[in-house]
Amino acid sequence: MGDLSKQPGHLRPAPENFLSDEQVKAVAAGRRDFLRKSFLAAGAAMAAPIAARASDGDPEILNLPPWSTSLGMPVAVNPYGQPSKFEGQLLRRESPGLTRVGGASVSFAPLQGLFGIITPSGLHFERHHQGWHDVDPARHRLMINGSDPAFLKKPKVYTMDQLMRLPSVSRIHFIECGANTGLEWGNVAVPTVQYTHGMLSCSEFTGVPLKLLLEDCGVDYKKARYVLAEGADGSSMTRTIPMEMVENGEVFVAYGMNGEMLRPENGYPLRLVVPGVQGVSWVKWLRRIEVGDKPYATKDEAVHYIDLMPDGLHRQYSSIQECKSVITTPSGGQRLLEKGFYNITGLAWSGRGKITRVDVSVDGGINWKTARIEGPVQNKALTRFNIDWVWDGKPAMLQSRAIDETGYVQPAYGQLREVRGTKSIYHNNAIQSWKVVESGEVSNVQVL
Ligand code: MTE
Repeated sequence: MGDLSKQPGHLRPAPENFLSDEQVKAVAAGRRDFLRKSFLAAGAAMAAPIAARASDGDPEILNLPPWSTSLGMPVAVNPYGQPSKFEGQLLRRESPGLTRVGGASVSFAPLQGLFGIITPSGLHFERHHQGWHDVDPARHRLMINGSDPAFLKKPKVYTMDQLMRLPSVSRIHFIECGANTGLEWGNVAVPTVQYTHGMLSCSEFTGVPLKLLLEDCGVDYKKARYVLAEGADGSSMTRTIPMEMVENGEVFVAYGMNGEMLRPENGYPLRLVVPGVQGVSWVKWLRRIEVGDKPYATKDEAVHYIDLMPDGLHRQYSSIQECKSVITTPSGGQRLLEKGFYNITGLAWSGRGKITRVDVSVDGGINWKTARIEGPVQNKALTRFNIDWVWDGKPAMLQSRAIDETGYVQPAYGQLREVRGTKSIYHNNAIQSWKVVESGEVSNVQVL
């Protein structure tokens, strides 16, 4: 675990608070004895009622498995808990169609296998322009400066320890790469929801509002209207963020994710959280913030993450991720086993605020029914929806359509292409369709 005193966070427990290996073994041995005695005593009492009820059920209930007849593992065998070995298929995956250049690539989150709205940290999607590093927090610094001394009076360099002593916020937000669902622009129907929508995750992030840091450095909001964020990796990742987003307190520099420090792949020890805005602006391994009076037009905003419109011009600085949703089960690559009841479930989100409604169609958009939204609905976070469905064994076309608090309605492909044409890579928020055939196979199709 290394020398704790060299790690950030002055509130971590001191090493002597941990049990020694010998102490752990002694505790585990004592616990085993205790379990054996209480198990034998409880066993006889448990067996009878199960046998009595099983006559009209699945006989498997009578075959006591090893986990009901033997001792379990003691605590702390896995000092950092891992998923069950039966869940080994639930993994981030790279797309077979996308080439890896050096460390630059993507791994997609397995949305089809997740519940609720929080993405487990180990399954959070990854997008690196130049690979990832496990950055030493003791050597990491955040510099805040102005492109002109008049914009910010006291430029500063913060250590992680200094940042982690400041007032913090914890908020749940989605992060979606601007290129999510990008392959579908070209009518390439990739097989599963992991590849169509898996550059999407949602976590509880913890950190310090950027507003607080800028004010600590004496920012002049009248002059400094833009912020440039820069990462410490080899990709020279830099993005402009308008000052209004910072002034309203929503943007923060985060060190925490889902109750622990960020994972290295997701920017440990510090990343920017820009709620509602495309993932590229959430600069990882954040090392510098500069304030200025105009957008910076860096490579990551002048050449990449722009949209070629039907008139031949590019749309630039279109950072906000518009309202979108997708059914995650049943979805492409899955198979319905038989006719009957299914819970259709999925995710909805909007970079402009809260989701207010999600409609679901099972006939390709002819009829729509309003789904149940699982609250509380959070601002600029994933929102889970569910709806009951009884499959009659006939072909079906499953779609979801989200509406956000601004009244914006997620468009069909035809509507989106009318405005945006077909030459984009980024910012595809069209309605996703999953086709179900009589055999129960589900596949990805595009419906205009
Ligand atoms: N920040 C740095 N420094 N380097 C990067 O390559 N990738 C960006 C953004 N921040 C990137 C970065 C992109 S394109 C996205 S979509 C998100 O990080 C992905 O964040 P994640 O890997 O935590 O999912």
